[in-house]
Amino acid sequence: MKQEAAQLEEVKALEDRYQLATYKKMPIVAERGAGVWLFAADGQKYLDLYGGHAVAGTGHSHPHVVATLREQADKLLFYSNLVYSEARARAAGKLVSIAPASLTKAFFCNSGTEANENGMRMARLATGRENVITFSSGFHGRTADAISATFLGKYRELGKPNVPGHLKAEFGDIESVRDLADESVAAIMLEPVQSMAGVNIAGPDFYRALRQLCDERGIVLIYDEVQTGVGRTGNWFFAGSEAGGEVIPDVITLAKALGSGIPVGACLVSDSIAGHIKENDLGTTFGGGMMAMAAVIATLEAIEQDGMLANVRTVEAYLRDRLATVSGVTSVKGLGFLLGLQCKQKAAAIHSALLERKIITGTSSDPHVLRLLPPLCLRREEVDLFIIELEDACQPPN
Ligand SMILES: Cc1ncc(COP(=O)(O)O)c(C=O)c1O
Repeated sequence: MKQEAAQLEEVKALEDRYQLATYKKMPIVAERGAGVWLFAADGQKYLDLYGGHAVAGTGHSHPHVVATLREQADKLLFYSNLVYSEARARAAGKLVSIAPASLTKAFFCNSGTEANENGMRMARLATGRENVITFSSGFHGRTADAISATFLGKYRELGKPNVPGHLKAEFGDIESVRDLADESVAAIMLEPVQSMAGVNIAGPDFYRALRQLCDERGIVLIYDEVQTGVGRTGNWFFAGSEAGGEVIPDVITLAKALGSGIPVGACLVSDSIAGHIKENDLGTTFGGGMMAMAAVIATLEAIEQDGMLANVRTVEAYLRDRLATVSGVTSVKGLGFLLGLQCKQKAAAIHSALLERKIITGTSSDPHVLRLLPPLCLRREEVDLFIIELEDACQPPN
């Protein structure tokens, strides 16, 4: 045990010495993963209800994903979009096949922020307009345009001087959007479920009203599904869901769980947007590389083969039932495996108490909301384990 503690100290000292201190880290040296479990170098195992930062949708190191990546790595690691690739052809085809029918083309990039930047650029190219409406407490990434579209907390300040043309409406308040949506507006972009803000979801009427407003005023509707996409809500996408009023946007942006941990982002776009995009309008060296494409194919196949969408729906219902019995949790927000637990105690204290009990969860910008973003393969037994520990962790300190 002494030696293991020394190993944590050693790795920590090295990282802290050579890496910029931009993250508050948990005292874990991550070594190996399997499904919902993360194994640390000291032999401890953690139930990962944060899903490796919402990335491990298929669970950690899913065997089908690992095998597919190994096979691809043996053949070719990378070539850019200057050549054709079977992996890219299959990944794009597979992604479009699970997308809402009106979204017929994919553009691949490397991250969520980049997907959003490209989504906004496409809207500007398609409309010839410049402004973009986003929402209070929304988060869209940290590159210049995406951070300027982010009205959560202090992020936008960090991006100063901001990209001009970003307008803020109130999430859930259609009148605030209507007031801003004039002929200068190219796009309305939103996280349909605002995750980092503390898991805020609007009623179906809000999404329907946004769609109608966009149709009336020639505005492109962009759903940032970086967190909600790829099965997290119990459907492939929030777009088209009952909770979202069956609304289909013109663009969906994706990242996080799309590659099970291999960095990959994507925009899914409608024909009408695609028709405005010409050669060289968008691009990135690494987008559509073979390893990323193999990861996309294997991720989508694993979700299908293991019936993970149905699993999210049934286990969500079970989790909600069990959470209703926990006295420290006053309500549960969100959808599928993107849940915000409104807690009586501070979420940071519960997060720490759970970590001591070897369970990883997430906090949010709401100090009383604990976030759960588990792998889509989480089962009832693991929920039971969590509930026992949560009950304890919610007790006020003596
Ligand atoms: C909703 C949403 N959009 C965009 C991003 C940015 O993604 P990335 O960190 O891959 O750039 C995030 C990251 O947390 C996110 O949650």
